[in-house]
Amino acid sequence: MLEPANQSANPTLGAGRISPSESDRANFVVVANRLPVQQSFSEGNEEWRPSPGGLVSALTAVLQGHDGLWIGWLGVSDHGEPPPTYEGIRLKPVAISPEEYADFYLGFSNATLWPLYHDAIRAPVFHRHWWNTYQEINRRYATAAAESVAPGGTVWIHDYQLQLVPNMLRLLRPDVRIGFFLHIPFPPSELFTQLPWRREILTGLLGADLIGFQVPHMASNFSRIARRQLGATGTDSVLLFDGRTIRVGAFPITVDTAQITALALDPKIRARARELRRDLGNPEVVLLGVDRLDYTKGIQQRIRAINELYADGTLNGDTHVMVQVAVPSRESDAHYDLERHNLEQVVSEMNGDHGLVGSPVIHYLHQNLPFDELLALYLAADVMLVTPFRDGMNLVAKEYVTCRTDLTGKLVLSEFAGAASELRGAFMVNPHDLDGIKEAVCLALKAGPKEAKARMSRMRRKTMRRNVFDWAQSFLAALQQSNPAAPVDATDDPAPSQ
Ligand code: G6P
Repeated sequence: MLEPANQSANPTLGAGRISPSESDRANFVVVANRLPVQQSFSEGNEEWRPSPGGLVSALTAVLQGHDGLWIGWLGVSDHGEPPPTYEGIRLKPVAISPEEYADFYLGFSNATLWPLYHDAIRAPVFHRHWWNTYQEINRRYATAAAESVAPGGTVWIHDYQLQLVPNMLRLLRPDVRIGFFLHIPFPPSELFTQLPWRREILTGLLGADLIGFQVPHMASNFSRIARRQLGATGTDSVLLFDGRTIRVGAFPITVDTAQITALALDPKIRARARELRRDLGNPEVVLLGVDRLDYTKGIQQRIRAINELYADGTLNGDTHVMVQVAVPSRESDAHYDLERHNLEQVVSEMNGDHGLVGSPVIHYLHQNLPFDELLALYLAADVMLVTPFRDGMNLVAKEYVTCRTDLTGKLVLSEFAGAASELRGAFMVNPHDLDGIKEAVCLALKAGPKEAKARMSRMRRKTMRRNVFDWAQSFLAALQQSNPAAPVDATDDPAPSQ
């Protein structure tokens, strides 16, 4: 693990407008596209709330214990001033102008890399001016990290928006340990090599001492491509490049199982789940989907499949009700706007065809619900549908399984989600295959309590073994084993592949 915090460091350092002096530098720095706090407005007043998601809770404890600092973007281009610290963690904001937001965030990150890394479900767009801004913004994050990290410290860089940062940082600060974790899929060679800047991205990533992926085959994809494209040598888990050793491994992310279990047993949340079922008309079966509104999530296809089951009489409006939560996301992108439009069309067709006055067959919420409310929905749902076309992991599936402490509930899961390799007790589907989704839903509906319990127990055995803190610790422990100064033998194969 990391060395304990340097107690002499100043924990109240401001928001990074000036370069910290040597003694203010942090032993452990997280670099992610977003800061762990986001701005919201309540009755016209500005408030800073923790950003949602597992990453914030996973890293908060580690950062608190190790004199940590978090570098990221505020999430708005004409922002206010964030607090200097969050839960004792120093925050260092990176400014992104509206023009840069268009080219870096909407452009290269979410219209080039996001679709390319998700099986090119939408055609990736390649623009040289987007690439130029991606390099500039990555340099800005790398410079901020170089200014903030203590000599010999550790920097953990996250996700596809920042793939050039590892090598940029290494050139500025060869003394620090650098880890990189990709939260989304890493694509196969046929797709990755379409990228006009493939060598630059690979070189950027190889600046890290440890590169982590969600599942082993993504780690192997990367290592194979690095060997073929850049002449790196070594195995899938230890690469030699440019006189350095880089470890590559799979570190499947998970959820805060203890927190979710405690909330799932909270009488208030259980009462809310019963209330939700009552509000839905006390149907026999509640089907649920919860996704960020993204074209990779397969929401429309899933709803079309359910619609056909209503049409052929397998499902019945009196006994079966669906809830679909679609969390607003990347709304200024035309693809996301179109996705919302088409999704809402499918939802209204389904209600138009099969609903009754006062009893819709699908309840659709385009909202960012509080976590407690989501948990109540998980508890209220008999069948959870998670059917992305491609997903790095998918934490919704793990949250649902973690909630089902009484071993009830059935999960229909895409075989193309990273979570599929762990949640073998799910009803697996090819999300492109409407008939396949229908069959899996029918199997889930027909499965009796004994089968459902066996499947849920199998999934929970796996999920409850590790929590998100173990995930962070296992990555950081592997990173600490790496020694940037001393290349190891490439036949040595110590990188974890969990
Ligand atoms: C995925 C990515 C994250 C990203 C999140 C929300 O989970 O892996 O890096 O933060 O989506 O997307 P947004 O564009 O709103 O940050």
